[in-house]
Amino acid sequence: MRRPRSVREADVAGKHVLVRADLNVPLEDGEVADDTRIRSSLPTLRWLLDHGAREVVVASHLGRPDGVDPDYSIAPCAHRLRALLPDERIRVLENTRFDERETANDPSFAAELAEGMDLFVNDAFGAAHRAHASTEAVAHILPPYAGLLMEAELENLGRLLGEVERPFVLIAGGAKVEDKLGVLRNLGGRADTVIVGGKMAEELREDNPLDFEVELPTDVVAASAFEEDAETRVTAFDAVPEGWLGLDIGPASRGRFAELIAGAGTIFWNGPMGVFEWPRFAEGTKAVAEAVSSADAHTVVGGGDSVRAINELGLADRVSWVSTGGGAALEFLEGKELPGVAAIPEASVLDSPHV
Ligand code: 3PG
Ligand code: MG
Repeated sequence: MRRPRSVREADVAGKHVLVRADLNVPLEDGEVADDTRIRSSLPTLRWLLDHGAREVVVASHLGRPDGVDPDYSIAPCAHRLRALLPDERIRVLENTRFDERETANDPSFAAELAEGMDLFVNDAFGAAHRAHASTEAVAHILPPYAGLLMEAELENLGRLLGEVERPFVLIAGGAKVEDKLGVLRNLGGRADTVIVGGKMAEELREDNPLDFEVELPTDVVAASAFEEDAETRVTAFDAVPEGWLGLDIGPASRGRFAELIAGAGTIFWNGPMGVFEWPRFAEGTKAVAEAVSSADAHTVVGGGDSVRAINELGLADRVSWVSTGGGAALEFLEGKELPGVAAIPEASVLDSPHV
């Protein structure tokens, strides 16, 4: 695997450092609803401060605003960041996507971000699959380095691309079926067992384009409508009544999936088994989260919803790596080169200040 040059190799004392972080966290009523990504950005910022950086300017996008929109102000994230790491040398820029040149990867916007800065640290693994001005173009203007989170993500996810402890169990679920089929195709063949639940399973029931065997649910919690308090019934996977929807995997599938997971040497889990935000359809996701966290295996959980589930269940400490990347983790595991990483020169002994 290609390793980008690390911030640990940079001399930052007295420097003005531009950091691209991924502070794109879920908000609820204008408040940060889950600060995992903000907390994950702290080690790099601390490292820079501890090594004498004169100024640390943090840039991030938040959501997908259409131009300047106060609902997408980065202020709540900046506020949380400052509460977690109070230091007057840190300055957080407003949402990079308020400027339309950001997503256009426009060098003129990158030049504005780079103004007065000495070096660039990309720590936004979650946005590394985007070639945007603050992730890509700016890396051609300032000397770029990878942040500590970026490095840790590449290393932990990279382990899944090399030789792994077997059996390798891949668990896929969730709704963004199209996004995930590519990963399944590319990674599925390398896994010993592929478990599919959630909306993804519903999709494969009708038409399965995969050329390897997949463990699908045998039973589901069927609901009369897509509603939290809908009428429900446990049915066989292939016997969901006309007009009803499978909103969770059933008890037999939970037991079977848990058994397969318990025997794993390596696990990658992306995507919930049902509509876990609604307690009546959360049991499948819960069973998988519990099985993953108690397995004696190298366990990696990625993707916003699976991470949220594992956090809400208080199990995050019991998995080997919780990835801050959703789409980025998937694209990386598909074997794609991430533009935000590609723009950073490869690590080499020559970059080391000790040589
Ligand atoms: C994410 O949430 O996956 C990243 O922050 C990237 O956001 P985007 O999908 O809006 O580019
Ligand atoms: Mg996303």
